[in-house]
Amino acid sequence: MYPRSFADANGDGIGDVNGIRSRLPYLRDLGVDGIWISPWYVSPMHDGGYDVADYRDINPMFGTLADAEALLADAHELGIKVIVDLVPNHTSSEHRWFLSALAAEPGSAERNRYIFKPGRGDGSEPPTNWQSVFGGPAWTRVDDGEWYLHLFDPSQPDLNWENEEVRAEFDDIFRFWLDRGVDGFRVDVAHGLVKNPAYPDIETSEGLLGNARTPDHPHWDREGIHEINRRWRAILDASDREVMMVAEAWVRPERLPMYLRPDEYHQSFNFDFLVTPWSHDAAVAAIDRAVTAAAAVGSTPTWTLSNHDVMRHPTRYGLPPDTNWRTWPLTGPADALDADLGLRRARAASLMLMALPGSVYLYQGEELGLPDVWDLPASVLDDPVWENSSHAQKGRDGCRVPLPWSPDGPSLGFGEGDASPWLPQPPGFGPLAMSAQLGVEGSTLELYRAALAARRRHMTADEELTWVDLGAGVLAFQRGSGVLCVLNYGPEMPMPAGDVVITSTGRTDVIPTDACAWVAPR
Ligand code: NOJ
Ligand code: CA
Repeated sequence: MYPRSFADANGDGIGDVNGIRSRLPYLRDLGVDGIWISPWYVSPMHDGGYDVADYRDINPMFGTLADAEALLADAHELGIKVIVDLVPNHTSSEHRWFLSALAAEPGSAERNRYIFKPGRGDGSEPPTNWQSVFGGPAWTRVDDGEWYLHLFDPSQPDLNWENEEVRAEFDDIFRFWLDRGVDGFRVDVAHGLVKNPAYPDIETSEGLLGNARTPDHPHWDREGIHEINRRWRAILDASDREVMMVAEAWVRPERLPMYLRPDEYHQSFNFDFLVTPWSHDAAVAAIDRAVTAAAAVGSTPTWTLSNHDVMRHPTRYGLPPDTNWRTWPLTGPADALDADLGLRRARAASLMLMALPGSVYLYQGEELGLPDVWDLPASVLDDPVWENSSHAQKGRDGCRVPLPWSPDGPSLGFGEGDASPWLPQPPGFGPLAMSAQLGVEGSTLELYRAALAARRRHMTADEELTWVDLGAGVLAFQRGSGVLCVLNYGPEMPMPAGDVVITSTGRTDVIPTDACAWVAPR
């Protein structure tokens, strides 16, 4: 859940904590077990809240700490767990620690909470050639000539995880939210905390995944991270409640199991399937990799097709093969997009995902089949990627447009009153509004509701997945309960024998191309 864009209770055009509270019954009826809330802390919002100025209070734009506590109570009342988002790799440049680091001398204890270094040459060259994930150099120079490291925006200085004071502070932040009753933590950039103390240059660059794909990278996926993971796990294990943590770790699939050892994370996101092209063989391989990797350490796999960082999957799946969806919206002609095809595939893929063992992480609005708003005008863009990439990439605003709750009104039911939402909603959002789909047979919302209900009945008994051969281009697996899930990448095929539980098309006689069905044995 991206709180800024979910629901706006006080009518100022910005989503808020009370907006989430007002929609909890909807989420319960949708059938979710828990919600992960993107950062809601005090923040100047230079990176949508992933620039935290105070980890122990709520951004006034979203509400108060009392609202957050009320949300936790309401959610628990309805049987919904709450996961908060923790950002340990960097703070905001407006965090009191960074302000005092700027005011202090080079070499001071205040500076040592961050990564300050002298420049190279006459001091005017950055200490290394590292690039920010958002584009541009990863170092910014301050008035006295020192440089500080920021793997993301300059407003997000990296913390120095070699410093025990930093470690102790985060121990305390974990306990602060545990004491308030949260059920878990999503840990941001979990693979980036530890840097090579020699600060060597980087040879090559591989885009957003960085060089997480290359061994011994100077700032991604370093050995020292596991010690930190274990420290946090011990804090969670000491809780008298059942709590969990999930890592956002963009690392090579074969490296992921290490983060999931019994004394580290409970789960990690798995972005492998998200970046897999629409292909039978690629999908089977990605599923196999995730299931095997999790099983190797006694963990469970996780699945994701959309989140607040990527183009929504109905749009991704509607693009011509081999299109780079991170840059396409700037350069590609609109008519290259086949929106109907994209939605058909998205519904099929989502239904298949909900049949897999482990946990499924859905992103707000995907249950409505919302497309990505890739054509937002440049004047409204808010994502730092737009500026940092020197306007080469529009960034991630297209998946962050406020949700449509009803088909009409100034903000399509997103907020009370007349305020325009903080990002404009396109005309196509009205007909996709929640209330326009609720109870409507064949709608994407009803597909998700039925699938989540059927998942509880048929799919969660155990974690077994057995591949079934139904011919070329047909992805098919059986779950422990005996239910067969078929995703058809090939030509239309007859429906396998059995009781049809659910289909992405409504057809019970055949499975068309790009459709999915669950069939129970008789
Ligand atoms: C990953 C978050 O999901 C993304 O939104 C953010 O920009 C970066 N981490 C930096 O915190
Ligand atoms: Ca608001």
